[in-house]
Amino acid sequence: MRKPMIAGNWKLHKTLQEASDLISGLIPNVADNRNVEIVVAPVYTSLGKVAEAISGSNIKLAAQNCYPEPQGAFTGEVSPLLLKDVGCQYVIIGHSERRQLFGESNKLINSKAHALADVGLGIIFCIGETLEERETEQTFDVLRRQVRLGLKNLREDQMKSLVVAYEPVWAIGTGKTASDEQAQEAHAFIRALLTELYDKETAKATRILYGGSVKPGNVDSLMSQPDVDGALVGGASLKADDFARIVNFQAQDS
Ligand code: PGA
Repeated sequence: MRKPMIAGNWKLHKTLQEASDLISGLIPNVADNRNVEIVVAPVYTSLGKVAEAISGSNIKLAAQNCYPEPQGAFTGEVSPLLLKDVGCQYVIIGHSERRQLFGESNKLINSKAHALADVGLGIIFCIGETLEERETEQTFDVLRRQVRLGLKNLREDQMKSLVVAYEPVWAIGTGKTASDEQAQEAHAFIRALLTELYDKETAKATRILYGGSVKPGNVDSLMSQPDVDGALVGGASLKADDFARIVNFQAQDS
């Protein structure tokens, strides 16, 4: 019932030419896949070019960030409306790199969620604990706080275009992946939280992606977990072959 989503977060990588090469390498390798919602998130400067390249294909465009105001004196920022205008269907918010390197608070992330919902853009809402938080058994408290504050006052109908991405910070870019069991445990917790905050139907319908060193070699077993509905992929989304293999994952029956 939940269509899997595989999203590639290109982070701060790729010139215009490199972005063009990557997307044109990807399109034919995933063209037959109708079972997965495929999303790529290039840097702002490549959005227009990638939008043109994927037009008419089964790949959707996302931005990696946004500013919650529609316009005004906000030097260096980009609004949800402009991202929609360039062809984005989703925007990633709350990525741990934004939280850690740029000091983004749950409150700011919540205002971004509202701004995106207001213009009808899909949201990829990232949460996740640090290694220290996991080791001191605070994982569930952290996830609870991030979900509660990040989604504050977001209505049930707005949750329909929101995807949660569980990304344990210790697994991002480190080559360390959460085990299938660790991912499943966190995802089940997040789904239970959504039941508490919304209702069973919303929780059941909301996709929860796993992120953190997803690769061709571990995607199949991660995707076999009942509450893992997709992946947010960093490093391995920068190579067309690797990302295509992840998109074309083969979940095993468990
Ligand atoms: P990674 O990044 O796949 O390189 O670990 C994931 C992410 O940050 O979304």
